[in-house]
Amino acid sequence: MKKNIAIFASGEGTNAQRIIDYFKDSDTFCVSIVVSNKPDAPVLKRADKAGIAFHVIKNKTEFYDTCQTIDILKAAKTDLIVLAGFLWMIPDNLIKAFPDKIINIHPALLPKFGGKGMYGMNVHKAVITAGENESGISIHYVNENYDEGKIISQHKCEITKSDTPESLSQKIQQLEHEFFPQIIEKLLSVK
Ligand code: GAR
Repeated sequence: MKKNIAIFASGEGTNAQRIIDYFKDSDTFCVSIVVSNKPDAPVLKRADKAGIAFHVIKNKTEFYDTCQTIDILKAAKTDLIVLAGFLWMIPDNLIKAFPDKIINIHPALLPKFGGKGMYGMNVHKAVITAGENESGISIHYVNENYDEGKIISQHKCEITKSDTPESLSQKIQQLEHEFFPQIIEKLLSVK
């Protein structure tokens, strides 16, 4: 039986797309569901186009005060939950229901430039403003604290004097698209 991946995403979903494409023809792994908190998130169109089931979380009450998401993920026989640009904090009951089975990608080298409010362009602006000469991506387990779970893998890129938040975001996106699917495959292969 194939191992099932659930992707959580709030926005564009370019990482989700990469993961969907990477596992499209796999005999062992598949993306079985996409979950979003935004009804108009482009990632939902990507899921639909790929023929993948999706669920839109109606509101915070549903997510934080009910077991609906857990029930949906269990029904989809989820082996790994992948947060790919999902901007809500994961509730404790979900973390407890899937111990060591939730991972996140962060567009900087944690523990630097993590925490509340640190997502997308905000991160790249902060990195450039701080005058860093390198940045990168962090793939990590999700625990109760934002961006603080055990690091699984980090990949770096150089920042040059001419880099802007926009050019840095492109370098980071390249790293994400290259490494995220591979790390997911590795994790599922040993689990
Ligand atoms: C990615 O860069 C991901 O690292 C970031 O959101 C982007 C989603 O892009 N996540 C965070 O900042 C989490 N703190 P995508 O929708 O094109 O995949």
